[in-house]
Amino acid sequence: MRLPVAAAGVILAGTFALAAPAQAEGNLVVYCSPQEEWCQLMVNEFQKATGINVSMTRKSSGETFAQIKAEAANPKGDIWWGGTGDPHLQAAEEDLTLAYESPMLKDLNDWAVSQHKLAGGKTVGIYMGALGFGYSADVLKEKGVEGPKCWADLVKPEYKGEVQVANPNSSGTSYTFLATMVQILGEEEAFAYLKKLNENINQYTKSGAAPAQAASRGETLIGITFQHDLVSTAVASGAPMVVVAPCEGTGFEVGSMSIIKGAPNLENAKKWYDWALTPEAQALAAQANSYQLPSNKNAPVSEHSPKISEIKLIDYDFAKFGSSDERKRLLSRWDKEIGAAQ
Ligand code: F6P
Repeated sequence: MRLPVAAAGVILAGTFALAAPAQAEGNLVVYCSPQEEWCQLMVNEFQKATGINVSMTRKSSGETFAQIKAEAANPKGDIWWGGTGDPHLQAAEEDLTLAYESPMLKDLNDWAVSQHKLAGGKTVGIYMGALGFGYSADVLKEKGVEGPKCWADLVKPEYKGEVQVANPNSSGTSYTFLATMVQILGEEEAFAYLKKLNENINQYTKSGAAPAQAASRGETLIGITFQHDLVSTAVASGAPMVVVAPCEGTGFEVGSMSIIKGAPNLENAKKWYDWALTPEAQALAAQANSYQLPSNKNAPVSEHSPKISEIKLIDYDFAKFGSSDERKRLLSRWDKEIGAAQ
């Protein structure tokens, strides 16, 4: 699919972006888990809108969770913005994050508020996106194979060495994939599937979106990622990416945000939290070539965003797969049975 550049940026110059500031108003440390480009734009616009000096680190969802946990006795970060919902829920359960009732909650979609309720107020949904896989039509032609349509297709011998996905320990995308297969197939069958799939995997990457970029460059035929990351890759690279919503149905993420317990700059963390839930801040996504569905009902949805209503979604069990015990158990089983077999 060749996609024209998004237009949502045109309407973003709303209240926050134009609000006065520029005086030094203290500091904020943001741990950011979406794509670097989006993290950077959010930081720049927040600094412009508030005068608060932001320092930001981008790491994948699982890595950020591990960092916040490691720093718990002496927290260095104020807010964790973005990344898949499961590790945010785990952080809430492990008391690493703080409950907060933003005045913006009333403007959010139910799926965003339900994460907030599930976590006793310690996290909130900021975007949503469905999992899938994709490939470049050009690379598919070169290889002379059929394009996969279902999760079941990915284990076929013709795709040996042709599939890439991230490591679920570091990547929230890949943990979503693991939890999705467990929910679709049942745990035993899911691990049998993942073992078989392992024979076709050329690399387990650190970041979830990396396989989409590798697929656009022909370094792998198939990349398993969120569907919006395949769209971003198509827009950025111009590669004719085919985005597949798997025939069996698929899982999804509620990208989330949490305030870190013991945040050194708590008041500024709350300012970021409220701002990040405004339509104006959420409209920045498309400017940064990111096409998740925004959580604020009044935020514009990019024409490039995958149409969630047309995708067969499973009823992803966030309470179970975002729980500390379940996430730890599944990751340790993955390490033993899949990771060790690489
Ligand atoms: O920004 C892209 C994105 O896929 C987000 O939608 C998601 O929350 C995040 O990256 C997950 O990244 P990772 O798999 O590296 O944790």
